[in-house]
Amino acid sequence: REPFDVVFCRNVMIYFDGPTQRQVLERIHRVMKPGGMLFVGHAENFSDARSLFALRGKTVYERV
Ligand SMILES: C[S@@+](CC[C@H](N)C(=O)[O-])C[C@H]1O[C@@H](n2cnc3c(N)ncnc32)[C@H](O)[C@@H]1O
Repeated sequence: REPFDVVFCRNVMIYFDGPTQRQVLERIHRVMKPGGMLFVGHAENFSDARSLFALRGKTVYERV
């Protein structure tokens, strides 16, 4: 029941439309610790959700 430090969600969100991606990102955000790391796939870009996750590498985001 503890919040997660790290989440790997790679090459899955590419199947979802923008609003669904946002819903999923909000759910992931809710269960992560501030400063936790989210690893995504190379074809995925969530820079629109910078209030939730800050880009820290090509495919790595930090939970805000
Ligand atoms: C390209 S594979 C990536 C697998 C793995 N995450 C990786 O990076 O190696 C895409 C995965 O997304 C899953 N997937 C696609 N649409 C989904 C959905 N609506 N709900 C849950 N999983 C889904 C598929 O079952 C598949 O396992």
